[in-house]
Amino acid sequence: MANVLTELFGLEGRRALVTGAGSGIGKGIARRLAQAGAKVAVCDLEADRAAAAAAEIGSGAIAAGCDVSDEASVAALVRDVAEQLGGIDILVNNAGIYPTGPVAEMDVADWDRVMAVNLRGPMLCTREAVRVMRSGGAGGAILNVSSIDSLHPSFVGMSHYGASKGGLNMLTRSAALEFAPDRITVNAICPGGVETEGTQAAFGDGLKDQLEERIPLGRVATPDEIGAVSLFLVSPAARYITGTTLVVDGGYLIT
Ligand SMILES: NC(=O)c1ccc[n+]([C@@H]2O[C@H](COP(=O)([O-])OP(=O)(O)OC[C@H]3O[C@@H](n4cnc5c(N)ncnc54)[C@H](O)[C@@H]3O)[C@@H](O)[C@H]2O)c1
Repeated sequence: MANVLTELFGLEGRRALVTGAGSGIGKGIARRLAQAGAKVAVCDLEADRAAAAAAEIGSGAIAAGCDVSDEASVAALVRDVAEQLGGIDILVNNAGIYPTGPVAEMDVADWDRVMAVNLRGPMLCTREAVRVMRSGGAGGAILNVSSIDSLHPSFVGMSHYGASKGGLNMLTRSAALEFAPDRITVNAICPGGVETEGTQAAFGDGLKDQLEERIPLGRVATPDEIGAVSLFLVSPAARYITGTTLVVDGGYLIT
């Protein structure tokens, strides 16, 4: 049994970079990858938060500060992480922001910032990390953290967010096609509501209560549960899956 699990889900010897991993879903993913044996780099805009998360995760996790929307910052991040870990096999594009604002009152600066972090960021990280993966010659796995809002608007005020995540789904498919010859898989997950520091700060308990009434499984997810599904998609068990978007929403979208 143990051997089968190790063969399918073990990440021993693999090197993973997770963005926005100082809190919430990213930290949950980084923790799961580390538990499966990966050497993990915890990246966050807030360097202190990244350092605290890396210390909490343990297992030799390292921390790095980076703004994923900034080209020079991403280039420096990937260079440093590849040097410290000896390469990169797994990239998780998780960093994302979700300010609210209806289209009719949209502040262009808010629109541009959401696109820069949620869409340009994953493109920049993918571009840089793929160069390292290709030079390693052993393939790789990229996972983009999208959202059910890429498929269906949850409520008014998230148009920039939904559009950025819809774009991320398409970037996922395009990159999957482009990198398949290198044996680099590219997939996305679309979580529904997840209880994180970010959702708590942005919406308080109001949104959670509102969502839970509409979720067939009756509750929002934990970052740890999103981490478990993410582990599957970057593990050897999923090596024949590429270009897919996997909904992880407790049944929300079937209602
Ligand atoms: N929480 C949810 O309900 C939910 C649902 C679906 C999708 N998502 C997606 O999951 C991801 C994580 O969400 P969360 O709720 O854990 O958020 P969070 O705010 O709790 O954590 C996000 C982390 O990303 C970091 N970050 C923000 N901008 C960054 C940047 N430019 N560069 C690097 N790091 C940056 C933040 O400092 C923070 O530590 C996002 O992409 C979000 O869109 C969240």
